[in-house]
Amino acid sequence: MFPLQYPVNILNNTQKDTIVLDPFCGRGTSIFAARMFGYNAYGIDNNPVAVAISKSKLSAATVEMIMETLNKALDYTGNYDIPQSEFWQWAFEMTVLEQLCKIRAYLHQHDGMTENALRGIILGALHGPKAKQMENNSYLSNQMPRTFSSKPSYSISYWKKHNIKPDKISIAAVVKKRAQRYYNDVIPEVNSNIINGDSRENASYRQLPPMTLIITSPPYYGMRTYYIDQWLRNWFLGGPDVPVNILNNQMDHSSPDDFARNLGMVWKNCARFTTPDARMYVRFGSIPSRKTSARDIFEKSIALSENAWRIIAVSDAGNSSCGKRQAAQMLVGQKRKSEPINEIDVELIKNA
Ligand SMILES: C[S@@+](CC[C@H](N)C(=O)[O-])C[C@H]1O[C@@H](n2cnc3c(N)ncnc32)[C@H](O)[C@@H]1O
Repeated sequence: MFPLQYPVNILNNTQKDTIVLDPFCGRGTSIFAARMFGYNAYGIDNNPVAVAISKSKLSAATVEMIMETLNKALDYTGNYDIPQSEFWQWAFEMTVLEQLCKIRAYLHQHDGMTENALRGIILGALHGPKAKQMENNSYLSNQMPRTFSSKPSYSISYWKKHNIKPDKISIAAVVKKRAQRYYNDVIPEVNSNIINGDSRENASYRQLPPMTLIITSPPYYGMRTYYIDQWLRNWFLGGPDVPVNILNNQMDHSSPDDFARNLGMVWKNCARFTTPDARMYVRFGSIPSRKTSARDIFEKSIALSENAWRIIAVSDAGNSSCGKRQAAQMLVGQKRKSEPINEIDVELIKNA
């Protein structure tokens, strides 16, 4: 996730009729920034969690609407499943899990602006660190990382070893706190759409108007766990209650050339679906252990897009360490190897 300031700095130098596309929209940072400027904004992502979170950033629901929808979901009387395995008994307090399952089933059957907001709030609150005092909890789970879902076997042994039990958290209190934080301010409503699709395929762009500006951050070369890292949030969206890796729609990370070829397909699509004077801003990185620089892969990807774009500036975005930016909060309750990431910021214009 790049910081909001990155797209904001770009958008500060744009004109009124800007239309923004992020073909790897992730948690919707560039879409949200565009909306702050009153610009129409569109996104594509192939991860349902990213799509749901991006949609929640476009919702104009109010706190009252969100709380009303939550109450309806908690009163849901249809059928719902409650996962039974040991992981679930430790991950959530029993009544919290049952309520979560009701909300999950309700949201599966109802769609709309307010449901999008509630879905995004629950996804954000689903797991994370426990507060010292129960009333300060802003996450619904037992002690867990916030940015990725740890694996069941690891989590269970961690909770058992440290004897950490899940709290009986008030879902309503957590949702209200978050709704007040994110939905109190009036942010302009804009035309927008988030496509759950593969940005390498041109079918993903067909419902979108011509764009004037691309702001994006593709998966970093070597980081291919976006899907399985979110298995618990994917469960909330209707997925399985165990981690399953879905690899068939992932970028090809087998070699820098394969990865560049995949990226090239996206840049070619972006060129096809933008206006002649379009610009593109990309933050990109790679893991140094892969022994290829982000800049080399990126330049190759532009060549492989049949030079649909021309690079006009490249700057070093700093040597953020995974531990600093992408994974700082991951380390709550789980040790992860953190590798430094070489990041670059690239500015491009469309070739005639
Ligand atoms: C580095 S993240 C983007 C982060 C985003 N800038 C933000 O601030 O949240 C890359 C995103 O690309 C998505 N992705 C990977 N391969 C994709 C593909 N082929 N088509 C669409 N999205 C893809 C991943 O699911 C992930 O959400």
